[in-house]
Amino acid sequence: MEKDRHNHIELQFLSEPSDVNFGGKVHGGMMMKWIDQAAYACAVQWSESYCVTVYVGGIRFYHPVHIGHLVKMEARIIYTGNTSMHIAVDAFSKPVGKGNFVKNTHCVIVFVALDSENKPKEVPPFVPTTEKELAMNHYAIKLMDLRKGIEEEMRPYIS
Ligand SMILES: CC(C)(COP(=O)(O)OP(=O)(O)OC[C@H]1O[C@@H](n2cnc3c(N)ncnc32)[C@H](O)[C@@H]1OP(=O)(O)O)[C@@H](O)C(=O)NCCC(=O)NCCS
Repeated sequence: MEKDRHNHIELQFLSEPSDVNFGGKVHGGMMMKWIDQAAYACAVQWSESYCVTVYVGGIRFYHPVHIGHLVKMEARIIYTGNTSMHIAVDAFSKPVGKGNFVKNTHCVIVFVALDSENKPKEVPPFVPTTEKELAMNHYAIKLMDLRKGIEEEMRPYIS
C-alpha cells in the first residue's frame, strides 16, 4: 500500500532575548536559521533521509519579529525533482496569548536528499492534488525558470 507522506510541518516557539538584533527585534540571521530548520525537518520527513540545503530563494522580511512573541514556521513541499525538494516556508508571529498571527517572511528553499556516501539520492515524487498545491507547484516551476536568468547574471562573480 502507498505510504501516506506528510508534505508539511509546523513549528511554534517563543523568540528569546538571545535572538535579539542591534535594534531590539529578532535578528534576521535567526529568522534564516529558523527557515532552514523548518525546511530541513520538512525535507527529512518527506524523504526519510539526511538532506542539505542547496538553494535559498530571495527572503523578504515584511515585518519585524518582536522578542518574546510566539513564532510559527510553516514549511511545505511544493515541488520535487529527482533528488531535490522545493519547500515554501512562511514565518508568522504574534504576541503570546493574544492577537492574530502576521506574516513576517516568505521564501522558497531547496533541499537535496543524500545517501550514505553523501551523493544526491532520489526522493519520493510530490504529486499536487488540491487547488492550492497545484498553484504552489506552478509557482515553484516558475521560480526555477526565473532562477536560470539570475544564475546566468551571477556566474561571472562566483569564481
Ligand atoms: C547539494 C549537493 C550535494 C548537490 O551536488 P551536485 O553535484 O550539485 O548535484 P547535482 O548537480 O546532481 O544536483 C542535485 C540536485 O540539486 C539541484 N540543484 C543544484 N543546483 C541548484 C540550484 N541552484 N537551485 C536549485 N536546485 C539546484 C539539482 O537540480 C538537482 O536536483 P534534481 O535531482 O531534483 O534535478 C552539493 O552541491 C553540496 O554538497 N552542496 C553543499 C550543501 C551544504 O553544505 N548546504 C548547507 C549550507 S552551508
